[in-house]
Amino acid sequence: MTKKRNGLPRLPHLLGIEGLAPDTVSGLLDLSESYIGQNRSLDKRRDLLTGRTVINLFFENSTRTRTSFEVAAKRLGADVINMEVASSSVRKGETLLDTAMTLNAMLPDTLVVRHHESGAVNLLAQKMKCAVINAGDGQHEHPTQALLDALTIRRRRGKLEGLLVAICGDILHSRVARSNIHLLNIMGARVRVVGPPTLMPTDVDRMGVEVHFNMRTGLKDVDIVMMLRLQTERMQGTYVPSISEYFRFFGLDQEKLKVAKPDALIMHPGPMNRGVEIDSEVADDLDRSVIHEQVEMGVAVRMACLEALIGTRRNAPPDLTTGALL
Ligand code: CP
Repeated sequence: MTKKRNGLPRLPHLLGIEGLAPDTVSGLLDLSESYIGQNRSLDKRRDLLTGRTVINLFFENSTRTRTSFEVAAKRLGADVINMEVASSSVRKGETLLDTAMTLNAMLPDTLVVRHHESGAVNLLAQKMKCAVINAGDGQHEHPTQALLDALTIRRRRGKLEGLLVAICGDILHSRVARSNIHLLNIMGARVRVVGPPTLMPTDVDRMGVEVHFNMRTGLKDVDIVMMLRLQTERMQGTYVPSISEYFRFFGLDQEKLKVAKPDALIMHPGPMNRGVEIDSEVADDLDRSVIHEQVEMGVAVRMACLEALIGTRRNAPPDLTTGALL
């Protein structure tokens, strides 16, 4: 079952989960798994990426993703540069592409990018000579989040296939939901999306999911409850009558959770808004909440992604003719 490290197909970039083969997803999860022990040991550092340079370029705020990419790269021995967008020449009007091409000229090995526009990271990857990892683009994809969620579930349940997963809340604005839907479908899980009609994408019927507009039916007998934040930074206008009304109908609390399987896992990608989409009693329920485990798995997943992209590539330029897997 466990793949050899070199059993993965070479990845020129990691731009999304959509289109990945089940073997590639399993291979990345297996490779991530191999880093968990290292991360829990006293000596966390390896020299796999010694001499390699990873640049974090985040145009949107981040705590988990940016920090864990830095931790992951450093644990593999890479040099890491965190570009401060707020104090960069972006503030003088330099475009995304010019910024990226400038960094490209410094010959990094990987550029990790978060951007508020869907598709911006894919566009940039076409111009870069190094590997590009999408750390979240607009409402489109957040591939490493879906991988870390899958790793968390697989370790707790031993599999992904056949599980019933409810993704709840602001589906419309969520790149986490999109990447998770792709990954769970690829790996044979069943996915429900649960939320108010105003927060459902218009093309939700084509996403391979069951759609529920209330938590009572949406959470019935599910194995996994994945809660999402209201992403107000991507909202134009009003999508819910009030926060208290939203919490009453769609906030996860012990009462709503009663219809899920008794051992259902509670997940949240963070950052959480307590009392909005999730009650503290549920978020901090040590028997069922795996929210901190998700963060831990995030480091292992990002180490695996860095290894898959640049760990075995000794100064060989990536094939830039395609964004697909080689
Ligand atoms: N889950 C996630 O992407 O969190 P950050 O915004 O803190 O990176």
